[in-house]
Amino acid sequence: MSAQEPDLKAYVSILEQTLATAKEQLIEAHHMISVGMLLAGIVHEINTPIGSIVSNNEVTARSLAILKEQLDKAQADGAPPPPKAAKILDTLINLAAVDKIACERIMSVIRSLKTFVGGKTHEFRKANLNEILQNSLKLARCEFRHRIEVETEFGELPEVECDAQKLGQVFLNLLVNAGQAIPEKGKVTVRSGLEDDSVVISVADTGTGVPPEQRSRIFAPGFTTKPAGVGTGLGLALSKEIVEETHGGSIGFESEVGQGTTFFVRIPVSPPPKAG
Ligand SMILES: Nc1ncnc2c1ncn2[C@@H]1O[C@H](COP(=O)(O)OP(=O)(O)OP(=O)(O)O)[C@@H](O)[C@H]1O
Ligand SMILES: [Mg+2]
Repeated sequence: MSAQEPDLKAYVSILEQTLATAKEQLIEAHHMISVGMLLAGIVHEINTPIGSIVSNNEVTARSLAILKEQLDKAQADGAPPPPKAAKILDTLINLAAVDKIACERIMSVIRSLKTFVGGKTHEFRKANLNEILQNSLKLARCEFRHRIEVETEFGELPEVECDAQKLGQVFLNLLVNAGQAIPEKGKVTVRSGLEDDSVVISVADTGTGVPPEQRSRIFAPGFTTKPAGVGTGLGLALSKEIVEETHGGSIGFESEVGQGTTFFVRIPVSPPPKAG
């Protein structure tokens, strides 16, 4: 019996290792699915400013050709540049300003996307949760568009020792859920603040609410009320795992049917020794 003990321990250890790897893979897979589902909105968000840059570029090319022609002619005649040249230059300066805004819009979406699909190994580092929230919001907003108004009330936060990529995924899950809970138009309010030794983040929606009989099950893996192809029922289960197991925090919610739901995530500023 005692001779078998080491074998059993080895099995348990292998099983634990396999389970941990499977969980990591599941988190990764769910993450890619979430980003994939937002892709149409992200493409639209990038496509609009690109369209404006392309059309501005055509105007710029035409204007430069006219400008060159006029300046060449003035030079050949020994005359000063015609007043129209100054007008064209003003137009070009305005177009450059519009292009700059368009480029910044594209860059900002790409930057947020990069924090999600950077391919970085997950690691604990000091980070500002407001910045992580902003990145998740940027992507969720591509999907919310004009349907959902977003309000933010970010408090001042100390840096928190955390896995930024995974927490970004938790916030994205909550934001996507909030958006999906709102049938037509509505509002999502995101708040952050410091309470005792924890950062508390809340995501509130004006959606359908969670019926009382479903409340005990929404964190269970596989529980979904969404049609196949929309929900896998893993978002909250994985979010709970990331918040509680990885960061030693807690996650909960309050809901009123027909009024909306608020999710709270509490992350300790200093992770307990086991976390990570
Ligand atoms: N903000 C919310 N308002 C109302 N119901 C919600 C909200 N968030 C979650 N739920 C309920 O909890 C269920 C489980 O959510 P969870 O995020 O785990 O899975 P899902 O959204 O269905 O699928 P996915 O794996 O794509 O996230 C949802 O199907 C929904 O019924
Ligand atoms: Mg979900």
